[in-house]
Amino acid sequence: MLYSETVMDHFRHPRNVGIIENADGVGEVGNAKCGDIMKIYLKIDDGQVTDVKFETFGCGSAIASSSMATEMIKGQPVSRLLSLTNKAVVEALNGLPPHKLHCSVLAEEAVKAALKDYYDRNAIPYDPQSLPTTSCESCH
Ligand code: FES
Repeated sequence: MLYSETVMDHFRHPRNVGIIENADGVGEVGNAKCGDIMKIYLKIDDGQVTDVKFETFGCGSAIASSSMATEMIKGQPVSRLLSLTNKAVVEALNGLPPHKLHCSVLAEEAVKAALKDYYDRNAIPYDPQSLPTTSCESCH
């Protein structure tokens, strides 16, 4: 089968769908080639991600990737988000077909864009190398 059971499960029953009205960080990224868009909302208290929601207007792999990424960062210290990679998301999904790997990149970028927004809003210094300055490389 092309997609793992885990991918199908997260596609059919995505976790953490929605918006957070008073989010502490919001990140929106898009892929210029396929036109898919992903938005992540973070609620952060005492340096912990206490809530996370996403909206994805995109393919099934993008939905499954964002669902898995939100599950992976929920309850984690904010600093942990820096090390979230699309590779880890793909591994947690038990793989994605090669031509769908870019969909998981969108999830990593959306989480990091939301983290950057949180840092910027709170004037928290960070290494610019560690977070993308543009939300989506493929859009530029
Ligand atoms: Fe666009 Fe999957 S095809 S994110």
